[in-house]
Amino acid sequence: MTSHLRPLALILTSLSVSTAQAQMTPEQMQLLGHNCLQCHAAANTGAPLLGDIQDWQARMQKGREQILKNSIEGIGGMPPMGYCSACTQEDMQVLIDFMLGDAKEVGHDN
Ligand code: HEC
Repeated sequence: MTSHLRPLALILTSLSVSTAQAQMTPEQMQLLGHNCLQCHAAANTGAPLLGDIQDWQARMQKGREQILKNSIEGIGGMPPMGYCSACTQEDMQVLIDFMLGDAKEVGHDN
């Protein structure tokens, strides 16, 4: 349901405040908007939502490396590379760091 999509500009504006540590280029910002938010900013796609710290915090239990690997290879409803054919692995890392926001890696010693 596209009606669940919040305007992209609104999401990015509200998030850029709390995630100032994520160094995203304008290009990566576009990759995010074009490839990830259709699921990660939409309710009922099963995707953890941007800004939903609790959901991301729970995922962090498996560690940042594993999350990156899952995103590149695909996991459940998450397509390999999130359908982002223009994304490099480095882009993915930055986008994922951005999505993770304030979630912290717990109980993982890397
Ligand atoms: C077609 C919808 C869709 C698109 C597009 C999509 N995702 Fe996902 N993503 C999902 C779903 C659904 C999950 C939850 C998968 C699960 O845990 O079963 C997910 C999970 C994730 C996770 C967590 C992986 C883990 O190990 O828990 C990350 C990180 C992620 N996506 C990043 C991205 C990025 C970055 C993009 C854009 C390049 C993207 N996604 C595009 C649907 C999508």
